[in-house]
Amino acid sequence: MDKFLIKGGKKLKGSIKVTSAKNAYLPILAGCILSEKPIVLTDCPKYIDIINMGKILENLGGKVKESDENLQIDCSSLTSSNIPQDLASVLRSSIFSLGSILGRFKRAKVAYPGGCEIGARPIDLHIKGLKALNVKIIDKHGYLTCDGRNMRGGRVNLDFPSVGATENIMLAAVLTKGETEIINAAKEPEIIDLANFLNSLGAKISGAGTSVIKITGVKKLNGGVYSPMPDRIIAGTYLIAGMMAGGNIQIENFRAEDNIALLEKVKKTACNIKLENDILTLKSDGRLKAINKIETSPYPGFPTDLQAQILALQSISKGTSMVVENLFESRFKHVPELVKMGAKISVKDRTAVVHGVEKLYGADVNATDLRGGVALVLAGLVAEGYTTVNNVRHIDRGYYQLENQLSSIGAEITRI
Ligand code: UD1
Repeated sequence: MDKFLIKGGKKLKGSIKVTSAKNAYLPILAGCILSEKPIVLTDCPKYIDIINMGKILENLGGKVKESDENLQIDCSSLTSSNIPQDLASVLRSSIFSLGSILGRFKRAKVAYPGGCEIGARPIDLHIKGLKALNVKIIDKHGYLTCDGRNMRGGRVNLDFPSVGATENIMLAAVLTKGETEIINAAKEPEIIDLANFLNSLGAKISGAGTSVIKITGVKKLNGGVYSPMPDRIIAGTYLIAGMMAGGNIQIENFRAEDNIALLEKVKKTACNIKLENDILTLKSDGRLKAINKIETSPYPGFPTDLQAQILALQSISKGTSMVVENLFESRFKHVPELVKMGAKISVKDRTAVVHGVEKLYGADVNATDLRGGVALVLAGLVAEGYTTVNNVRHIDRGYYQLENQLSSIGAEITRI
């Protein structure tokens, strides 16, 4: 099992580029199932979650080939409409492909994705949405067996703007006769990216990015070339790394419009940033003011996927801060690890209260999930002495060779 060994205290310097977004790439890959024509997705990041989604397509009979930085996908002759347990269990987002498989085959058998490190993660909204499109679903023995022979457009009213449920229903509706309307849809930038991708192949989707999305079913999709959006969570992670470690860095491919909630908070920390043509320039001396309160919520609110990283930042900021996690019930598992490093954080229910300390100290800590794991790396960058972050496989799910990326801007971090 890989670990990161980090020697803290190095200032960061130089330029780093944000790679494509995992959370855009995953539903887009699922969307490829809907087309019988070749598709090329550019700048494919080698995050483990993306590799696993490729395996799901291959298991359905699709061809997935990497060439240069691109991914060539050919789903012209799919042979299966099933996702078995072993594949569904390694990637929760396998559930996104349910809508696409149904759209393509009008039937599907998909293993239940189950819970994960950050919470129970139910899929009731996905199921409710698909039922509104007249899909019959039997939920038995860990599998969802779906009959979509009588699928038609429908009106789906989501009780909560779930990202995955919105994407799943969009994907199911693209090749389904009639008009589908998703009310209280998620508004995340990745939803817009998915709609742009599908529309580029000939789908008819409007309203993505607002709370009402309309999809008019079409008979077929074309092929094409598409460049998924840059990863706003990686962008935010690099920004927070620079703020914590101090130094002078440029982050390329930083789309400010996707990160407004974070940038609003950053303004309150007395840090110097400049944004021009998707390049963010940051100057930080690592001495930051605490942000009074950070509360995660669906987009455009503060992203839950940056909660762990901002919590690490608050742990060395001057003053007291309150961080409220509203989306996932088990998303403070990084806190005991940060406390091992000297952070002063107490958690009650969904709220963490952080009293900033002057110094963190290197320790042997465990990554228990993707973003919580990366928060420990950020803490290691500023801690006195050496930090070992165990279970790096969690981090590899959504960052590619993070150690090389951070080393390229002056951090001292190696994989052991
Ligand atoms: C996606 C992102 C994830 C991010 C999350 C919230 C991907 C691959 N993952 O996950 O990184 O943290 O959005 O921005 O894009 N819920 C239900 N029933 C459902 C579905 C969701 O109760 O059927 C609840 C969840 O438990 C959670 C909340 O809704 O409390 C938000 O979840 P959701 O937006 O669906 O997140 P994901 O799509 O799983």
